[in-house]
Amino acid sequence: MEILTNSTVGSAHGKIILMGEHSVVYGEPAIAVPFEAVGISVETTASKGEITIDSNYYQGSLDLVPSQLDNLKATIHRTLDLVEKPYQDLHLAIQSTIPAERGMGSSAAVATATVRSLVNFFNKEISQEELLDIVNEAEKIAHGNPSGIDAWTVTNNDFVYYVKEAPFEKLTFKGTAFIIVADTGQTGQTLKAVSDVASLVDHSPEIMEAVIKKLGKLAHKSKKAIKTGDVHALGRFMSRAHGHLKKLTVSNDALDLLVEKALDAGALGAKLTGGGRGGCMIALAEDYLQAHRIASQLKEARADKVWIYELGGKQ
Ligand code: PMV
Repeated sequence: MEILTNSTVGSAHGKIILMGEHSVVYGEPAIAVPFEAVGISVETTASKGEITIDSNYYQGSLDLVPSQLDNLKATIHRTLDLVEKPYQDLHLAIQSTIPAERGMGSSAAVATATVRSLVNFFNKEISQEELLDIVNEAEKIAHGNPSGIDAWTVTNNDFVYYVKEAPFEKLTFKGTAFIIVADTGQTGQTLKAVSDVASLVDHSPEIMEAVIKKLGKLAHKSKKAIKTGDVHALGRFMSRAHGHLKKLTVSNDALDLLVEKALDAGALGAKLTGGGRGGCMIALAEDYLQAHRIASQLKEARADKVWIYELGGKQ
């Protein structure tokens, strides 16, 4: 007889895209880091009857979740199909410190934590490939046309150079540098931003494809800067990338203001991170003192929340 534990927890961390958001959807390289300062945990417990959910956004039956949680529903159904269990007798409680829709990979993280929790609950094992498959399916519902970078980064602990459908390359930063992450407090609009970029590419292919190529080149050059520890070059590439992302119309006033404030405070470079149109920006500092100064400046400029992340180290 199969013995099930009373409750199990699955978790996942957030992610920060250092370079290459949006252009990564078009096959260009991107660089991302796991962001362990924020995370999601999902606790599965046995219950009687239909599957129920308890989260900040919704409490109740899985069958009746609002459409914004269709990705969660699909994740639960696909995982239960994989472990060959019926859609019943479960309660899932979701706790998150990843601000939703801020470019930190919350949708990929919630899917990852859910799969891990359910798989643990039924004492099953699944491969990394199966996990990525389910998370990417959920990301399609949340984002329309995901590159897979979010799914990859929240399910792994590596600093990664990522190209869609290519083997990943693990990076190590030579030396020290600090990334300051600031949340505008506005929800980003990844789904809309990704589809608007697609429309721009459709309407002005030559101009927009050139912008996308330049973003890809900057990601490639950033990889070299990371490997050699050239923090000044990395900063310059980040700021240039922000300029190109603006051309793709994925920045907004709140992001531009925080980018400007960070540069005024001495950042080596600054840009939006993730889908844009709100959400978070990042800035680069050479040492902790400088990072602290930039973080204070960003708080003064009313960033909702600010984190300091040591590149290559722990936050
Ligand atoms: O906003 P986020 O955290 O979901 O990041 C999206 C990154 C994009 O490049 C804009 C889309 C993608 O799937 O790569």
